[in-house]
Amino acid sequence: MEGRMRVRATIFILCSIFLPLASNARHPLASGFRHRHRHGRVARHGFGGVTQLKDLRVGFYGNTCPQAEQIVNEVVTKAYKKDPGVSAGFLRLFFHDCFVHGCDASILLDKTASGEKVEKDSRANGQGMRGLELIDEAKARIEAECPGIVSCADVLSYATREGSVMAGVPHYDVAAGRRDGLISRETDVAGNIPLPSQPLQNISQLFISKGMTVEDMVVLIGSHSIGIAHCPTFLYRVAQYNPTVKVDPKLTTADANNIRNTCLRPVPFEDLSQTFMPFDPVTPFRMDNIFYKNLLEGKALIESDRLMADDITTKQTVQAMAGNEQNWLAKFADAMVRLGMVDVKTGTEGEIRRNCRFVNSVNPQQPGDNNGDSGIGFDKEDEEQFRQIIGSTIFVH
Ligand SMILES: *[C@@H]1O[C@H](CO)[C@@H](O)[C@H](O)[C@H]1NC(C)=O
Repeated sequence: MEGRMRVRATIFILCSIFLPLASNARHPLASGFRHRHRHGRVARHGFGGVTQLKDLRVGFYGNTCPQAEQIVNEVVTKAYKKDPGVSAGFLRLFFHDCFVHGCDASILLDKTASGEKVEKDSRANGQGMRGLELIDEAKARIEAECPGIVSCADVLSYATREGSVMAGVPHYDVAAGRRDGLISRETDVAGNIPLPSQPLQNISQLFISKGMTVEDMVVLIGSHSIGIAHCPTFLYRVAQYNPTVKVDPKLTTADANNIRNTCLRPVPFEDLSQTFMPFDPVTPFRMDNIFYKNLLEGKALIESDRLMADDITTKQTVQAMAGNEQNWLAKFADAMVRLGMVDVKTGTEGEIRRNCRFVNSVNPQQPGDNNGDSGIGFDKEDEEQFRQIIGSTIFVH
């Protein structure tokens, strides 16, 4: 029924959004997590009844690679000046990474030891991935200065924070110490990333299963204050809303026309996935609470976003976020911190990848080979090919 269609949109919503983590020490954790803060350390216990100590720490690289955060800042700052859409891109990458196998940079892998298709190959990821080259750039610079020290998972966490802050989120500390995963499987994406075809309840359940809350979900969806959605996510609302109704009655005539004009230009059908609209056409690069205000007026590009303003379990949070922008932004930073702790690998788990695209055992480059001028085992031609495969003009701008 209707629910199904609405939910189709949700994927994108959530997908294009989510973010990093911050300094735990000041933030009480949500129920479902048990943390302790001491000396800036965050300890976290794992899920599923298995208790594991997870140590992430602000300033983790303070002795071993003190310039790491600064390098990431420089790379993201430069990129943001050219294209402020990188902020939404990182948020989406980070969210998709953390919800599949935890925040372990598994989404960045092109190849693993098993040779299986990787997370990147999933349709839920491929089309919308943005910012990969920037992660490569930051990682290459960091490796040149402190080889083998800083994980790709932490580089992505830092980059996501930088992008978010540039878009208007207050600065938050990123606790680090994540290790990079060895596994990345396309088949693990389904079920761990919210789908537009899922009821809101299912998506809430997914957040809870990751140790997050329904409030986190609503707060993080506010990242739709920036970014874009591709037409296939919402076109059904004006094409065939449900078996008996063509146009979603919740859409104004003007909005419906706008969607038609944008998505149904005479392009070959296969190009439909290249057409998109901003979630917030007024301030598309600014993290503000106009998104929530629009939701309360019934306005949203993505139907499942709009549902959050109606659903009894989420409505109050939407109202609160619409009523107080600073409060939302502070909560957003907190939620990013929690997102960044989802199923992290620490200590001796995983590895520190030399190249974010390959686990070390399949990385063509040998350790110690890194003289800083050879790239990281991925030359220009590969890069070009890769871009074509994933469709580089992306999804989240
Ligand atoms: C939503 O969750 C219910 C209950 O767990 C499940 O039966 C149903 O298949 C799920 N629907 C979707 C679209 O994921």
